[in-house]
Amino acid sequence: MRKKIVAANWKMNMTQAESERFVESLLLRLDDITDVEVVIVPPFTAIAKVSEGLGKAQNIKVGAQNMYWEKSGPYTGEISASLLRDLFVHYVVLGHSERRILFGETDEIVNRKVRAAHAAALRPIVCVGETLEQRDKGNVEKILSIQLRGSLAGLNPKELQETVIAYEPVWAIGTGRNATPAQAQEAHAFVRHTLHEMADDATAERVRIQYGGSVKPENARELMTQPDIDGALVGGASLDPRSFAQIVKAARDK
Ligand code: PGA
Repeated sequence: MRKKIVAANWKMNMTQAESERFVESLLLRLDDITDVEVVIVPPFTAIAKVSEGLGKAQNIKVGAQNMYWEKSGPYTGEISASLLRDLFVHYVVLGHSERRILFGETDEIVNRKVRAAHAAALRPIVCVGETLEQRDKGNVEKILSIQLRGSLAGLNPKELQETVIAYEPVWAIGTGRNATPAQAQEAHAFVRHTLHEMADDATAERVRIQYGGSVKPENARELMTQPDIDGALVGGASLDPRSFAQIVKAARDK
């Protein structure tokens, strides 16, 4: 059984004070959750505050939204995996469509980051997904295959198992228009099929695949009860502890 994983991608939001209040509120709402893995992904500036606030909370981890692949050195403005580890970060989101589209990240760049994350024992959440134009042209599978094979190239089975994939159709991000559960399941099944081609069967079955794109308390349950949907990467609805906690609880439903 794959343990569900639900992550809050705060993007470029949340001050230290707001982060502190969020964590206090979330801990009250989720203190009994052990069957779902929860990840808070704040901006770099709030990571320390979130780590501190979570303290010993077992099943809530901290993630980062990006990193650079080099270990250290003259890379002004960049953050390395070891600097993230220093703040008790466990996960790092890589290849988000906003990074691919706005900051020119290619599959090759994402792959360098993914390998550097594993080398530092950070677990990557690797985002893939098609644009509306690509979907309309019937190219969903082609795009997913290219992104997965490029971004995950060179990983050994253990590293692949410890990688989380986030299927995030670009047209569903921040638009209020989520993929239907059937559309999402179809894409997730294709992602898993590709993983089977890339690795042995046991490895492919263990990889968790999150859905992302306008996940809300109202649609979370139906999405996450699909057989290949193992959690959610939540943007807008993760800024409010109440709605994020509702989404986490929806991940428990069978
Ligand atoms: P959204 O963002 O939930 O606001 O659509 C999801 C994401 O970009 O990870």
